[in-house]
Amino acid sequence: MARYKIAVIPGDGVGPEVIREGIKVLRATAEVTDGLDIEFVEFPYGAEHYLRTKKLIPEDALKELSKMDAIYLGALGDPRVPTGVLEQGILLKLRFYFDQYVNLRPVKLYPGVPCPLVGKGPEDVNFFVVRENTEDFYVALGGRAKGKSRAELDLLRSLFSAKFKLDIDVDRDEIAYQMGVISRKGSERAIRYAFELARKKGKRRVTSVDKANVLTYAYGLWREAFELVARDYPGIETEHAFVDAVTMWFLKNPEWYQVVVTPNMFGDIITDLGAMIQGGLGLAPGGNINPEGVSMFEPIHGSVPKHAGKNIVNPIAAILAGQMMLVTLGEQRAADRIEKAVVEVLREGKVRTYDLGGKSSTSEVGDAVVRKIENK
Ligand code: IPM
Ligand code: MN
Repeated sequence: MARYKIAVIPGDGVGPEVIREGIKVLRATAEVTDGLDIEFVEFPYGAEHYLRTKKLIPEDALKELSKMDAIYLGALGDPRVPTGVLEQGILLKLRFYFDQYVNLRPVKLYPGVPCPLVGKGPEDVNFFVVRENTEDFYVALGGRAKGKSRAELDLLRSLFSAKFKLDIDVDRDEIAYQMGVISRKGSERAIRYAFELARKKGKRRVTSVDKANVLTYAYGLWREAFELVARDYPGIETEHAFVDAVTMWFLKNPEWYQVVVTPNMFGDIITDLGAMIQGGLGLAPGGNINPEGVSMFEPIHGSVPKHAGKNIVNPIAAILAGQMMLVTLGEQRAADRIEKAVVEVLREGKVRTYDLGGKSSTSEVGDAVVRKIENK
């Protein structure tokens, strides 16, 4: 009997309404799966909690979360809180604290889902983006300077720590600077995950995406790491691509891509593009994965404040995030039940939210998926 304790952080905006549907689906799945039991423990972190208490996510909450089997997250971000505060203080905090070094984002177009690419169908859009999730420009090191000044920047990571002491002399205008940091080990582990994934999923090619022609130091190291790891996988074809070119090729020839691995920031950008070619943000899930620790699953869309509380947004991204959570926990059979149910609902096309041209509500889509699961 497998019993899992899942931390739920519904978060802000539409987060709670999509997570509610995801939980409904996970409960129904546990119900029909012998030996699967899921307990949900809710945590209040997000805008409301922050505005009330001035706290983002306290240390004892992090301790509490580390006892869980996984975290299921809605969305963070609220117009009443300055931009970045909740995202950095909660979402990125969790990714770094739990060293969730892979952000796995499947780009998969399901049958019956409208694709904005003319002439492309489900057989053409089916790949994975493995986004390194703890480094690059996301380390949040930087500052502003005018005239003469000094700065000490500290970076503390599970793999390494680094101190930068800067002596800055700016002659006229004010400047701002921001550092991206790439580590050899940090790159290698994300890249290795991508190759292992390719092997497991029967994919033949891994594409590394960077901008090593301009950001030569950081992405030069990334490339070296890629070359080194690739040597352990002689059966898998490899290539490098520049991120600007990839935004073009994702649209022109999505069928070329099988597994894409890329540093944090480019991964952020190209997975929103990936979401569009799989039918929109309403369908795109992501997993923040630490294969040896606590992983966190979320729809990749944001909190969409303008739609909050209306019960109209698509819960499928959140439902599929729950499905990815089961895969990572090793419950493949249960996960397949969810994916199959989603596929059926999408293929029938009777119950769909506005983003897919329908009129159904968030909860009606959740109910439809649950009914498919119960029928089996
Ligand atoms: C994402 C989001 C986050 C990111 C934001 C909210 C910090 O855009 O998960 O892709 O940039 O990683
Ligand atoms: Mn993003």
